[in-house]
Amino acid sequence: MKIFDTHAHYDDKAFDEDRDILLSSMQQEINIEKIVNVGASIKSCKSTIALTERYPFIYGAIGVHPEDVAHITEEDIMWLKEKSQLEKIVAIGEIGLDYYWDGVPKEVQQKWFDRQLELAKEVKLPVIIHSRDAAQDTRDMLLSADAKNQLNGIIHCYSYSKESARDYLNMGFYFGIGGVVTFKNAKKVKEAVSYIPLENLVLETDCPYLAPTPNRGERNSSLNIPYIAKEIAEIKGVSYEKVLDETYQNANMVYRMN
Ligand code: NI
Repeated sequence: MKIFDTHAHYDDKAFDEDRDILLSSMQQEINIEKIVNVGASIKSCKSTIALTERYPFIYGAIGVHPEDVAHITEEDIMWLKEKSQLEKIVAIGEIGLDYYWDGVPKEVQQKWFDRQLELAKEVKLPVIIHSRDAAQDTRDMLLSADAKNQLNGIIHCYSYSKESARDYLNMGFYFGIGGVVTFKNAKKVKEAVSYIPLENLVLETDCPYLAPTPNRGERNSSLNIPYIAKEIAEIKGVSYEKVLDETYQNANMVYRMN
């Protein structure tokens, strides 16, 4: 069984002490076949590119997270455009809207979200969407950017209702499911997972954050993916193997890899 972690942050300082040991042993411990490391700022995009150069099984996404867009410029977008041509860069992300933190004004977040959606269309890469407390605006902006059906991608750490899942399903998007689905009180996410067809789900850790039960609160890593897959299998009433297998294929599909 091959495992695909579609969303990780191994450049995070939480991994500074043992990054190499952890990543080098990962494929033997459990069958982690591919990982997409996701950039969130220009700095972490650079370290993401470095990780893709060092480890054959690590691929990268580059983009600027809504919390980090306050000081970016059109020049940064041009840099992203140039780097998006690298062979191991498979997506633009994570990009989106986060109204939970009020550090960056909504209009500024929207401006750069839109700009990066345009970039993804220009360079023909899928997007990884981060959206928190911003369901309506995310949906509206994605729908208008996708008016000609040129966008695809993953709604990362999906946390909205099954009703809004329908809109993204209609757009052909995938849903990133991580540790939250294993939390006892995560009723909404469990409902969404039960509603969304398995062919639209992908596995993710968002590590070092959001470790699943029974390791909740600890540093997360791709080694925890089996807990997430088991929970999805239980919710959907299918085998654990089927979840790993289908989500592996889905991830390859959305990132256009073989
Ligand atoms: Ni993330």
